[in-house]
Parts: sequence; C-alpha cells; structure tokens
Amino acid sequence: MPAPSVWNDSLLANPHAVADKRQRVRRMFAAIAPSYDLNNRLHSLWMDQWWRRRAVQLAELKPTDQVVDVACGTGDLGMRFATALDTLGPAAKRVVGIDFTYEMLPIARRKSQLKPLLLLNGDALALPLADGSADVVSIAFGIRNVSDPAAACREFRRVLRPGGRLLILEFSLPVNPILRGLYNFYFRRVLPRTATWISGDKTGAYKYLPESVNTFIDRSAMMGMMKAAGFGEVRQVPMTFGVCVCYRGLVK
Ligand SMILES: C[S@@+](CC[C@H](N)C(=O)[O-])C[C@H]1O[C@@H](n2cnc3c(N)ncnc32)[C@H](O)[C@@H]1O
Repeated sequence: MPAPSVWNDSLLANPHAVADKRQRVRRMFAAIAPSYDLNNRLHSLWMDQWWRRRAVQLAELKPTDQVVDVACGTGDLGMRFATALDTLGPAAKRVVGIDFTYEMLPIARRKSQLKPLLLLNGDALALPLADGSADVVSIAFGIRNVSDPAAACREFRRVLRPGGRLLILEFSLPVNPILRGLYNFYFRRVLPRTATWISGDKTGAYKYLPESVNTFIDRSAMMGMMKAAGFGEVRQVPMTFGVCVCYRGLVK
C-alpha cells in the first residue's frame, strides 16, 4: 500500500512548528529510504559525498576516537568515518550509527559490510549512550529534522568527553541574493518534481526538503545554539556557494 501524504502546503509554511513533526519526519524517511541515496547523488551532482568527506577531515580524527554518527540514515557518513579510522591503525574502534527510522538501517547494514558500523535504532534526543562516552559526534542533514535541535545539541554535549568534537553538516542557502534566487528556483521548483518522480514518493518529502531549509534557523543562530549547549570554538565552513555548511564545536 503506498505511503499516505505526510506534508501539505499549509504544514510546509513552517514544518518546524508542526506539533507532530517527529512522527511526520519518521514516516517520510521510512517511505523514501529505498531511493534516498540515488536522489541524494543525482540532485547534489555527487557533491553530497564530498561534503561528508570534508566533515570527516574537520573532525581531526585520532586513532582511538569513538565516533557516533547520529541520524545516520543509509550510513554514508558513518562509512566515511570508518574508512578514515582504518587508515589510522589497528586500534580503531567501530563507528556507531544511530537513526530513529528503522527502514534506513538495513540499507546502511547492507552497504557497510566491508566497513561494519554498529547500527542502533534510537533517537537523537535520547541517545542510548553513557555520558562522556564519545570523542566525535556527527549529524549530517539531520539536525533540521529533529523536533528540538537545541535539546539535540545538549544531548550531543552530554555524550562527548573533554576534547570531543561535534560536526553538524546541514543545508543552508547562498548569502548572495542572486545566487540564492537561482538556487531556490532549482531547489523549490525543479528538485521536488524530479526527486518525487524518481522516488515515486507520495509523502511530500521533496517539497518538505526545500521548505524545511528555507524556514530553518540561520547560520548564526545555529552557532549560538551550539554555544548555548556548551560547545566552544564554534565555527562554520560553508561549501559550494553556501548550499551546505559544516559546523564544528569543541568540548573543552
Ligand atoms: C536527510 S537524512 C540524513 C541521513 C544521513 N545522515 C546522510 O548523510 O545521508 C535525515 C535522517 O535523520 C533521521 N532523523 C531525523 N530525526 C531524528 C531523530 N530525532 N533521531 C534519530 N534520527 C533522526 C531520519 O530518520 C533520517 O534518516
């Protein structure tokens, strides 16, 4: 039976303010999981993998780092961390990937057979991890989807030990108004049609994507949120004209 619609135009005026955003987000990702990777690659012209690689570089991994990739989806960032840790020596630990949409995890498991991840079905707002148990926490294209991003940042801070790093990869919009207008034409008018056609999606996932980016907190608010959660030396690294930003914060 096809998945019923999750988003309509009135909810998409500000999807972050929708009371049951959490349940809607989960239903949406469960429905698009099988075609998620293909749409990512095609609609970013394969740049999504480069953005993830940059996030791994900014984590400045050490051989014994314990890495937790939250909202891991189909495992792309976790696998990049696992590959990078492997190059650092035999002491490397297994990367933990956590996502609250169960349907994403079998895909991640299949893809990561050569670089196994420890995959858990769990929530960014209540990570199944002890205080101070991780050296790196990452979240790629996930923070915008959680119902309470500030609470998620506090949860990331809780599980990180001193010296730990938080890496947040998230879509943003070009600062230049002409570039922003051109990008939004593609993002709001073209991508929803082509991505919906490729996935056969009925939930409105690819209308939610541009609207959730356009209505999400801006870059300075994101950095303020990380600081308020207890992170220091917070910085942003914009990529590809600012359509994607990697934020990094440290635990002193
Ligand atoms: C856009 S996908 C990103 C997946 C992956 N990180 C990547 O780079 O492709 C967002 C993911 O966030 C997950 N997610 C959203 N809210 C979550 C939450 N509160 N806890 C755990 N996962 C969540 C969704 O299930 C989905 O798999």
